[in-house]
Amino acid sequence: MGALDGQVAVITGASSGIGAATARLFAAEGARLALLDVRPVAGELLGLGTATGHVTGHVTGHVTGHVVDITDAAAVERATAEVAERHGRIDVLVSAAGILDEVPFLEMTPERFDRTIAVDLRGVFLAARYAAPYMVEAGRGRIINIASQLGIKGGTGLAHYVAAKAGVIGLTKALALELAPKGVLVNAIAPGPIVTPLIDGLSEEWKRSKAAELPLGRFGRPEEVAPTALLLASSPAGDIYVGQTLGPNSGDVMP
Ligand SMILES: NC(=O)c1ccc[n+]([C@@H]2O[C@H](COP(=O)([O-])OP(=O)(O)OC[C@H]3O[C@@H](n4cnc5c(N)ncnc54)[C@H](O)[C@@H]3O)[C@@H](O)[C@H]2O)c1
Repeated sequence: MGALDGQVAVITGASSGIGAATARLFAAEGARLALLDVRPVAGELLGLGTATGHVTGHVTGHVTGHVVDITDAAAVERATAEVAERHGRIDVLVSAAGILDEVPFLEMTPERFDRTIAVDLRGVFLAARYAAPYMVEAGRGRIINIASQLGIKGGTGLAHYVAAKAGVIGLTKALALELAPKGVLVNAIAPGPIVTPLIDGLSEEWKRSKAAELPLGRFGRPEEVAPTALLLASSPAGDIYVGQTLGPNSGDVMP
């Protein structure tokens, strides 16, 4: 028995990093997956439906891939409807799609600010906006938004990213209040630095000094974030979490 047997989970940003690790763990726990990303989802991930013992034997099409730009409202609405049609329901949404780039505030153009807000905040809103009705109709569901600890502590050269991630934490609280009475639990995860392609562009020097200041002395791995998403998606393990921001962050932030 997997913790998510028979459940349908939508994961955005599933091509890489935290989204991909979450997809692997959720598949191993018996979930059927709809993987959304602006890039095509790798064959290895799409093969999860048959490659792992836990999820064979169900209907074919256990794992579906959907190429969607998370900032495109019409495309997100269409993809969500397609998921509900193909899989019959939506039990869990994990919003992991995101971008990160560094630019000093005095050089930040409005366009660059808007782009990060569009992907990292509006994308989280859109995914929830179109998935939640299916959950409300069923009287149950889980929405898990991947924020960042930078949304709590701030960060230099990252005003757009920090604003978006603080927005995700606020959005999570607002949705949690509104949807909990309807059976839908909404929470966020604010990871610390995690080794994924997202942080490839940051300098080695920054990475070394950042790792040295962490109580754990090292960055996390995507596989160390996915279990927090599993906890929040699971029942009864996650039944008591409402509007929380959990921090798999090597001890960097202790709110
Ligand atoms: N890596 C870290 O240190 C770290 C720390 C805190 C929070 N996060 C957050 O975790 C989430 C996942 O990041 P990651 O580290 O796994 O990065 P990643 O780059 O490995 O994965 C991000 C995924 O989002 C997808 N994506 C980007 N723009 C998109 C769009 N417009 N529409 C749809 N998909 C899009 C990418 O194609 C990619 O597959 C992000 O929200 C990120 O901000 C990451």
